[in-house]
Amino acid sequence: MKAFLSFAESPPAKDSFTVSPDRKMAVGPLFLMQEMLVGFNKDILDWKYTMIMPDGTVFGATGGRNSAAMKFCRECHNGAAPEQDAVMLLPEESHVN
Ligand code: HEC
Repeated sequence: MKAFLSFAESPPAKDSFTVSPDRKMAVGPLFLMQEMLVGFNKDILDWKYTMIMPDGTVFGATGGRNSAAMKFCRECHNGAAPEQDAVMLLPEESHVN
């Protein structure tokens, strides 16, 4: 990708969990971002957003199944600093090994 992170081996992914009001925890969806070719969708900086449910089903994917439901991803990710290209991970120099 263009910014300071390299995803040559795998696209960025984010796991998640949920906590119910009675404090029970459960596995949440897996969130994926794939950098597509320039022109794929300039409103989302040419990223494809995908949400995979804990049972393995694809809830939605930009340009695919339930694409409209993936529009909310941009509300946060497009707000990342321009040099971060919609990716929210901290710069590598901030990582603790
Ligand atoms: C409410 C704001 C918000 C929304 C909406 C949102 N994200 Fe994120 N996303 C974040 C933040 C903040 C992080 C960084 C979290 C961290 O590093 O712990 C993140 C991280 C990620 C990452 C890891 C790479 C990165 O940018 O750090 C992926 C992949 C991701 N989100 C995909 C998605 C997808 C797919 C959607 C829509 C289905 C989505 N996100 C919607 C705020 C959001």
